[in-house]
Amino acid sequence: MTVLVRDLRSDDPADVAAFTHARHRALPFILWTPEAVVHRLAHTPPRARSRCLVAEEDGEVIGTAQVGLVHDSPEPGQAFLNVYVHPERLRRGAGGLLVRTAEEYLACEGATKLYAWALDGPANLAFAERHGYRRRRAAHFLRLDLSHATLPPLWSPPPGVELRTAADFTDDPRPMFELDAETVADEPSDVDIEFTNYEAWLAATWRHPLLNRELTTVALVDGRPAAFSVAYTDGTRYSTAMTGTVRDQRGRGLAKLAKTDSLHRARAAGYTEALTGNDTDNGPMLAINKWLGYEICATEVRHVRELG
Ligand SMILES: CC(C)(COP(=O)(O)OP(=O)(O)OC[C@H]1O[C@@H](n2cnc3c(N)ncnc32)[C@H](O)[C@@H]1OP(=O)(O)O)[C@@H](O)C(=O)NCCC(=O)NCCS
Repeated sequence: MTVLVRDLRSDDPADVAAFTHARHRALPFILWTPEAVVHRLAHTPPRARSRCLVAEEDGEVIGTAQVGLVHDSPEPGQAFLNVYVHPERLRRGAGGLLVRTAEEYLACEGATKLYAWALDGPANLAFAERHGYRRRRAAHFLRLDLSHATLPPLWSPPPGVELRTAADFTDDPRPMFELDAETVADEPSDVDIEFTNYEAWLAATWRHPLLNRELTTVALVDGRPAAFSVAYTDGTRYSTAMTGTVRDQRGRGLAKLAKTDSLHRARAAGYTEALTGNDTDNGPMLAINKWLGYEICATEVRHVRELG
């Protein structure tokens, strides 16, 4: 039985479905659908040199990797490789082969610093260390059982604040782009991200197949979008892709309000499970999620390896 690594055949629905399945089994806390996998490959700018790799054994997809350059960071040379092997197909060499293939490719593309997430656990951490990666920051995955949880009741917005949904911005989404750009820049991370290209944002983020505009709540302050809670749904599960408040409106309860509203509407729409993820240093967001009733269900650790 030989394991081989090759590119995902993004025009082959069966291959994309197998990739998505293996990735979901390895990391069930993040929503991924075949449409989202293809969308990401198609709409990441060419300078990111994005690739999806699969590890295959006897015709079965047993591992996945998403790799590329961090194209939206002001610091050049940064790259990522996220490798996930189906939990029932471990110890067959798929992970090591995916890492080697990704590293060789990224080095050829000019990468000098490689970032990789690993689910917390002795085997994964030892694997990362053996491949020369050092531990950096960590992030939690959190889950809320919407069918049983008692959500905090929704309250009336303070004077000057009104709640809308992203669907209200269909004709002109630019204010959503500006809100997203300002808040993403402040998310705790060891890679600085800044995005300025509206057309690229429209294609990659606004038209993302998992984005549920009706369940994405936006809080306006004096008519201007000031906070939002971005909902992704895959038909059965609901996940928060981002919550953010513009700098000059933080500490007023607007993120809490937007997320609480979105969760109430998700539950009314029939969703029974809510997922989210937070950097372990994101005190305010963890406080909000704890208050909403979320519980930590897994932790992942970001690793870095410097080349040369
Ligand atoms: C995180 C963020 C969305 C919070 O927005 P906000 O509108 O200020 O949040 P709220 O006012 O609704 O609630 C903040 C809560 O965090 C608490 N808090 C603030 N700083 C805290 C800290 N360092 N540690 C713990 N709790 C903290 C506040 O006390 C408040 O809770 P309370 O109402 O019980 O007092 C905002 O800081 C932001 O946009 N950050 C950048 C983007 C980001 O990191 N988003 C999350 C991605 S997962």
